[in-house]
Amino acid sequence: MADQTNEAPVKARGLEGVIALESELSDIDGDTGKLVYRGYSIEDLAENAMFEEVVYLLWNGELPTQDELDTLRSQLRAERTLPAPVLSILRNAPDDAHPMAVLRTAVSALAFHDRETEDMSPDANRRKATRLLARIPTIIAAFDRLRKGREAIEPLTEGSMAYNFLYMLNGEKPGEAAERSFDVCLVLHADHGLNASTFTSRVIGSTLSDMYSAVTGAIGALKGPLHGGANREVMRMLMDIDATDKDATRYVRNRLSEGEKVMGFGHRVYKTMDPRAAILKEMVGELSEERDQRKWYDYSVDIMNTMQEERDIDPNVDFFSASTYYMLGLDPDLFTPIFALSRTAGWTAHLLEQWSDNRLIRPRAEYVGEHDKTFTPVEKR
Ligand code: CMC
Repeated sequence: MADQTNEAPVKARGLEGVIALESELSDIDGDTGKLVYRGYSIEDLAENAMFEEVVYLLWNGELPTQDELDTLRSQLRAERTLPAPVLSILRNAPDDAHPMAVLRTAVSALAFHDRETEDMSPDANRRKATRLLARIPTIIAAFDRLRKGREAIEPLTEGSMAYNFLYMLNGEKPGEAAERSFDVCLVLHADHGLNASTFTSRVIGSTLSDMYSAVTGAIGALKGPLHGGANREVMRMLMDIDATDKDATRYVRNRLSEGEKVMGFGHRVYKTMDPRAAILKEMVGELSEERDQRKWYDYSVDIMNTMQEERDIDPNVDFFSASTYYMLGLDPDLFTPIFALSRTAGWTAHLLEQWSDNRLIRPRAEYVGEHDKTFTPVEKR
C-alpha cells in the first residue's frame, strides 16, 4: 500500500537542507563559518573551557559553577572502571580489529552491566550518559594496550578526562601542554548540529529505545570515511606523501584527476572554512614547531592551497585534527574513536533533548519501483 499523507512531499537527497527537529544544543552558520554550543562561540570555548565544562553546558544548558563542575568531574571519575566482562571482550577481540568496531561492540555490551539500561526516567538517563562518557576512554585505551601485548591500565581517580585518557594509553602522566592540546580537541568535537551520527542517535532514541542502543548506532555511523572516519584517512594521505616523493601538491592533483575525493575537505553545511579547522591549523603549526616535525604542517598547507586552487573546497575538522593527534603520539586508527569519545557528549545531550519532547523520527522514501505485478509460483519462473 502506498505510504500517504496529506502534505506535499519534500524530496531532498541525503536530507540536504531538511529541518527535522528543533535543538538548543549547537548552531552552525555555514556561510560565515561559525559554530556555537548553547550560545557560546567555539573559539571562546576552545580558548577558555575544559571539556568537562562543555559537557556540563551541553547537558544542562548553562556553564557550571565551580561546585557543579567539581560534582560532575567526581561523578565521571567514579564511573571510569569497566565491568570485568567488558574488559574480557576487549581481551578477546582480534588485535587487528578496527578500533571503532571494538568500541561499538564494547559500548553495546556495557548495557548488560547497567541495571538502569531500560529505565527511561530523566535521572537514570542522565546517569547513563555519565557512565558512557566516563567509560568510553577506558575502552579505547585498554583495547589499544591489549592489542599491543601490554596490560590495560586502571583509570586514575584524579585528573581531567584528557589527562586520564593519555595516561591510560601511554602508561605515563602527560605534560601540561599535551593535556591542554588534547582537551581542546575534545572541546572542538563535542557537538555539531544534526550530523549523521547525531541524527542516527536521535532516530534510535526516538523509538524510545535505550541510550546504549542509540550510542552504539551513532558509533557505527561515525565510523564511515565520509564522517568521522575521514581523520584516519587524512593521516594515511599525509604518510603516503611523506613515504613517496613528498610532493603534496602533485599528490592532490593526481587524486582529483582520478576522480577521487580528498579526505578532510568539504562539508554539507560549511561553504567556507570550518572554524574548528582554523583553530586546529594553528595548533598543528605550534605542535610541529615544538616537536620539530614541521613537515606535517607544510604538507597540510600545500594540500589546503591546492584544494582551494583546484576545487575551491575548504578543510573540515578532520583535516587538521589528524596531524594534531599524530603529533600527540596517537595511532591513526585511534583518531576516530577519540572523535567518538568527545562526540558522546553531544550524542547523549541530543538524546536527553529528544526524550524531553519525543516524537518518532520517520521520513519517507519516494518509491521508484514497479507496481501491479502478479506473483508467479516458483516452478513457473
Ligand atoms: N574532495 C574532492 N571533491 C569533493 C570533496 C572532497 N573532499 N568534497 C566534495 N567534493 C565535491 C564532490 O565531488 C561534488 O562535486 P560534483 O558536484 O562535481 O559531483 C561536490 O563537491 C559536492 O560534494 P558532495 O559529496 O555531493 O557533498 P555532500 O554534501 O554530500 O558531502 C562530504 C559532504 C563531507 C561527505 C564531502 O565533502 C566528502 O566526502 N568529503 C570527504 C570526506 C570528509 O572529509 N568527511 C568529513 C566531514 S566533516 C567532519 C565529520 O562530520 O566527520
